[in-house]
Amino acid sequence: VHSHLEESIRPYIDLIDTLRSVGIHKDLALPTIVVIGDQSSGKSSVLEALSGVALPRGSGIVTRCPLELRLKKVPGVNWKAVLTYDKKTDEFVNRFAAQNELAGKGVGICDELITLEIMSPDVCDLTLIDLPGIARVPVEGQPEDIGKQIKRLIMKYIKKRETINLVVVPCNIDIATTEALKMAQEVDPEGKRTVAILTKPDLIDKGTEKSVLAIVHNKVIPLRKGYIMVKCRGQQQINDEIPLEAAAQMERDFFQNHDYFRLQKKKIIYLFYTIIKLCFAYLCQNSLPPLQQQIQKQLCSVKRALHDCEAGPPEDLEGAKEFLIEKIKSLLSGEPKNGKSLFFQIRA
Ligand code: GDP
Ligand code: MG
Ligand code: NA
Repeated sequence: VHSHLEESIRPYIDLIDTLRSVGIHKDLALPTIVVIGDQSSGKSSVLEALSGVALPRGSGIVTRCPLELRLKKVPGVNWKAVLTYDKKTDEFVNRFAAQNELAGKGVGICDELITLEIMSPDVCDLTLIDLPGIARVPVEGQPEDIGKQIKRLIMKYIKKRETINLVVVPCNIDIATTEALKMAQEVDPEGKRTVAILTKPDLIDKGTEKSVLAIVHNKVIPLRKGYIMVKCRGQQQINDEIPLEAAAQMERDFFQNHDYFRLQKKKIIYLFYTIIKLCFAYLCQNSLPPLQQQIQKQLCSVKRALHDCEAGPPEDLEGAKEFLIEKIKSLLSGEPKNGKSLFFQIRA
């Protein structure tokens, strides 16, 4: 089932990536998976576990701008990454160089999409957009309203019907107070396109396991697509430079030996991929056909407009004048678009 899903989804992912790279997303909504969460909820850690790439921490550009992470499973190649931003493209064969480039300088947030394409035999086939974490307190040099700015940016992505929202929530805090989950619920009250990822199961207070299980079993804040629990690298493991593969083995051991979360072990990475892919496949089925219709419609109207001008103005001056007057008249009588007449749009 797994490999069949992968095969069936690759063409859609490629199509959507291509459409986005030529800027179609500015006019039409494309199916997208976004990752959101409060600062330090474990967003980067989850993405690392997924991509096999250690992401930079701190105030780097990755945590300040939306990052489109294109993961391409390519058998038999060496790890390779291509970074595109600011109309620049850089190729990396070394993870550290890519990380340093991404770490950048500055503390503000930006709206521009950065694209990091990673080709490797070890990644899953997926494109995700990582959004900046919701900060509550500005750090030095950040604008006072940084929290608002980040929320506005996140809202722009998650409100779209075509977007799957992956919400990262630490399970050692009260989930009811999680800003990211609240935002996701606001835009998707039925939870049709929201998946919650519970991190830090190893840090919960002894004695609270049952209340965490109640969340996982969808009894506290019910989400149609439910909750998935993962354990990522803690700060000590990062300091000790524990590789991601070793961390994955530690995660399996953790769940296998846990008194309460033992039964969650199947939920970890495998289910993680599967649910994301299922969601994505669902969206492709439900949002690509209307997308095709929209494109067809716009194409038709452009063709019609072109047809009207096909012959072009006549050679003689009088004829050309008349042609121009005709065109202006028809524009003036045209249907108002976005509250403005076509004439004003063209003049603008
Ligand atoms: P982000 O700000 O949401 O991107 O959060 P990070 O991924 O940077 O994680 C914040 C801190 O939590 C880091 O020190 C991580 O090592 C730690 N962390 C993340 N996930 C886990 C987990 O499952 N267990 C433990 N013990 N620590 C975690
Ligand atoms: Mg981060
Ligand atoms: Na980010």
